[in-house]
Amino acid sequence: MADVHYQSIGMSNALEKQAVRSRRSKYIVIGSLVAIIVLAAIGTAVGVVVSKNHKSTNTSAASSSSGSSGSNGDSSTTSGGGSNSSSTSSNDPSKFELDSRLHKAFYGLAYTPEGSLPDYGCSSTLENVIKDVQLMSQLTTRIRLYGADCNQSALVLEAIKQTKVDLQVFLGNFVVDGDEGAYTRQRDVIKSAIQTYGVDHIAGLTVGNEFMLNYVIEHNSQDPNSAIGDEGAAILIKDITDTREMLASLNLGKTIPVGNSDAGSYFNTKVLEAVDYGMSNVHAWFANTTAQAAAGWVTNFFEETNVQPAALLSNKPKMYIAETGWPTGSKDIGNANNGGSDASVANLQVFLDTFVCQANTAGIPYFFFEYFDEEWKDAKYGGVEGYWGVFDKERKLKEGLTIPTCISP
Ligand SMILES: *[C@@H]1O[C@H](CO)[C@@H](O)[C@H](O)[C@H]1NC(C)=O
Ligand SMILES: *[C@@H]1O[C@H](CO)[C@@H](O)[C@H](O)[C@H]1NC(C)=O
Ligand SMILES: *[C@@H]1O[C@H](CO)[C@@H](O)[C@H](O)[C@H]1NC(C)=O
Repeated sequence: MADVHYQSIGMSNALEKQAVRSRRSKYIVIGSLVAIIVLAAIGTAVGVVVSKNHKSTNTSAASSSSGSSGSNGDSSTTSGGGSNSSSTSSNDPSKFELDSRLHKAFYGLAYTPEGSLPDYGCSSTLENVIKDVQLMSQLTTRIRLYGADCNQSALVLEAIKQTKVDLQVFLGNFVVDGDEGAYTRQRDVIKSAIQTYGVDHIAGLTVGNEFMLNYVIEHNSQDPNSAIGDEGAAILIKDITDTREMLASLNLGKTIPVGNSDAGSYFNTKVLEAVDYGMSNVHAWFANTTAQAAAGWVTNFFEETNVQPAALLSNKPKMYIAETGWPTGSKDIGNANNGGSDASVANLQVFLDTFVCQANTAGIPYFFFEYFDEEWKDAKYGGVEGYWGVFDKERKLKEGLTIPTCISP
């Protein structure tokens, strides 16, 4: 595959498609390329970039800080100290200070460990993942990963073990068209992590992320259920089937659900028929809604485009919102407004206040996008890509943000 290439997409797409045409992918795999979508400047065309990428600067946030308060991250409470949200002290990662500003309001969080891209040398560290797990476990009981390179499955499971927090993980295998080795490599490290850590903290295994979106666009199609779409689906289904065989070989065929994630309008029916669950990216930002209208838009889109169609399939895959959120900034001024509202902390707050507790009450399973700002995306893709975090890249709760106090089921 070529390293980087562009393809223009017609602007005549339905609003929903664009909308969900989601956000770039979070994670990305390996030495191969991954298709990523980048919003072009306002009023101009949208371009699709296929690239490999990534870079992550290792913000070696030195730990420092204060005393531990002894409890292990179960309920909220406690001290919430100074500017650093959480930190380990002593050598026991299960003893860490709880931040009183954090509440387990989220059904789930989308997470990519810093430095989990092999192209940049795999700089992920257990120390950083432990910090992340300490923070995330104060916000939710579920996280999802996108891929398995750079040892991220084991790092996360090891961090959960050491911190003793109540956290379930949806592991991920980031499938890349034309690079079957990427799938196989990830499958093998996932298998090894399962053998090492067991299944207690594994809620599912997601095979493929935005694979259909990238596949149909690369093949100049818009329809995931076209003949072209079915060709892409066959690649995914082969990997999904292989993953089930791997789990069956561990006698876990019925224990760990196997799913797939994609942009909300890009699910192929045959893929949905092959999985236990589907995870859908649903982003009001890319549908150009206002921040005030975002929660309603997301809820309706997910219900109509994903939940209802999935319920008609004989296997009735459970549908999740894989990503939803609101950006707080943009690398360039041109992308700092989507035509409806600004990318800002104030508008992320609006979305938090109108979506999170309401979705919890409605029983909508969602992964908030995302845990923290991913600096490499800002460098590589610009726009709002690097600004979706609840925490900033230094793992500090964004200034001015208030986490809802409801507790997710
Ligand atoms: C959203 O607004 C941008 C900038 O004006 C525009 O390029 C894009 O086509 C719009 N998207 C939709 C789905 O309306
Ligand atoms: C936060 O971390 C920084 C850098 O490690 C440190 O200098 C500072 O004292 C810490 N602040 C608190 C309140 O712990
Ligand atoms: C992967 O992470 C686990 C947990 O920290 C560690 O035991 C193992 O050695 C790591 N493997 C590699 C190849 O880094």
